[in-house]
Amino acid sequence: MTNEELLQIEESNRAELDKFDYELNVCMGTGCMSQHSDKVKAALTEEVAKSGKNAHVRQTGCMGLCAAGPLVLVDPTETRYGYVHEADAKDVVASLGGQSVERLETHLENYFHGQHHIVLENSGHIDPEKIDEYIGRDGYRALVTALTQMTPQEVIEQISKSGLRGRGGGGYPTGLKWGMVAKAGKGQKYVICNGDEGDPGAFMDRSVLESDPQRVIEGMAIAAYAVGASKGYFYVRAEYPLAISRLTISLREARRRGFLGSNICGTTFAFDIEIRIGAGAFVCGEETALIASIEGLRGQPRPRPPYPAVSGLWGAPTLINNVETFANIAPILRKGAEWYAGIGTERSKGTKVFALTGKIVNTGLIEVPMGMTLREIIFGIGGGIPDGRKFKAVQTGGPSGGCIPEADLDLSVSYDALIAAGSMMGSGGMIVMDDTSCMVNVARFFMEFCMTESCGKCIPCRAGTAQMFGLLSKICDGEASHADLDLLIDLCDVVKHSSLCGLGMTAPNPVLSTLRYFKNEYMEHIDNKHCPAGVCACDAKASKKAEVEVTV
Ligand SMILES: Cc1cc2nc3c(=O)[nH]c(=O)nc-3n(C[C@H](O)[C@H](O)[C@H](O)COP(=O)(O)O)c2cc1C
Ligand code: SF4
Repeated sequence: MTNEELLQIEESNRAELDKFDYELNVCMGTGCMSQHSDKVKAALTEEVAKSGKNAHVRQTGCMGLCAAGPLVLVDPTETRYGYVHEADAKDVVASLGGQSVERLETHLENYFHGQHHIVLENSGHIDPEKIDEYIGRDGYRALVTALTQMTPQEVIEQISKSGLRGRGGGGYPTGLKWGMVAKAGKGQKYVICNGDEGDPGAFMDRSVLESDPQRVIEGMAIAAYAVGASKGYFYVRAEYPLAISRLTISLREARRRGFLGSNICGTTFAFDIEIRIGAGAFVCGEETALIASIEGLRGQPRPRPPYPAVSGLWGAPTLINNVETFANIAPILRKGAEWYAGIGTERSKGTKVFALTGKIVNTGLIEVPMGMTLREIIFGIGGGIPDGRKFKAVQTGGPSGGCIPEADLDLSVSYDALIAAGSMMGSGGMIVMDDTSCMVNVARFFMEFCMTESCGKCIPCRAGTAQMFGLLSKICDGEASHADLDLLIDLCDVVKHSSLCGLGMTAPNPVLSTLRYFKNEYMEHIDNKHCPAGVCACDAKASKKAEVEVTV
């Protein structure tokens, strides 16, 4: 495939679409599908046929505003409809060329204002199962350019210059990692895409895979060329059946168009990808556990070094990157490293996709430039806190992260700023809490998650998370003493510094960050047997105990 051939596909695709006066894009991501958007699409198709209107009804991936689903985007007017039901199809089709359907309009301009879509640029605009629609929006240009006009070293230099850092949590510089794998000899090498995404509240990677799978495949193929790999794996959890189905279709389509297989784009480069389905264990997102799982072994981490870049899958040098990291690669090569490095902050370049959930008006998927403040995200794009309640904290980084209080709402989101605030970027979950959330209970929730998901290989994590969970439960129940709190703090230190992998090392973070900002809530539970948010059972237990004492 050459650039000219890509242009031909793009032109015939455009000519096909130009035949229509209108496009009705229906979100068929998991969120909207759970609200029966497939039925909305069928009803719209039927109405279009009946009305004789010259409109094309298309399935797309996620449009972002998941809470308002099913969503329909009408082009060329860019009218956004929310909560669309089958019964609305007639009005939507009748409105084409006239007045929009006022009752369905989302009027959520703020939600999109301030967002910067790079990873999500095609989400909601293309049919994820049609490779030509991806090609029609500059898809595979970057791969063709890399293979025909750049050396592997030049590709790595561009990625390094862009400043892209891994989006899977750690923020490791992507170009540096690619360079290490490239230098690791000339034998068999592998590329793995980490689509495990086990953090509670996170659904960024799932949405990207469901909405624009070819973008991730293109990123992996460019990576394979750069590091000298011939085989790749997608590792996706079994709870993501729609993503797996769309990936399966997309891999077939990419082979059909000659972007996977041998002699790709007429060169000697050969690369193909298989899908491996994970069983949904959080620890299997850790790179060495993931590799063990692909090898058919129990998904448990092993000590590093050696790092996968040197000795990974079946002992071969292996590049492992997150879904969103790969999704950034093609635009960087297409538009240039300088363009990408011009977005974001000094040490956190580009954009970040976040899954905005919890006590927030606009729940959904957003992509913002690094450096945007938490206030802009939560109160601007997110629309603030519902029901007139008061913001209390935002949890970022999942079970490895922490809770950031109101006083830090003006913090600019970047890898370093979040760590300095006692949290971390993680993979992009952002859970907003209002004054009805008890911060001790929140810490207990995440500790229970880590305890349950601990693989049990090393004692500090296996025993430590269980002990910390027990102590947090005691505090929530109003049965803890100051000595229990001291023990909890000591355990945080031990587990953080002596666990084998990131799960154990970061499990204390939600406790440490809530202790840092909300220690008064811990003390209220301990000293006064009172839960200020009214969530924990300690008040009821305390009054019951007082009752018993009076009776006795
Ligand atoms: C317990 C644990 C779970 C993880 N889960 C994921 C995950 O679901 N997805 C992911 O990309 N990285 C996850 N990571 C990070 C990976 O080990 C690895 O650093 C990442 O896939 C590298 O890709 P990146 O450089 O593109 O971020 C996890 C790490 C730990 C310790
Ligand atoms: S830290 Fe926890 S999850 Fe990681 S290896 Fe040890 S027991 Fe397993």
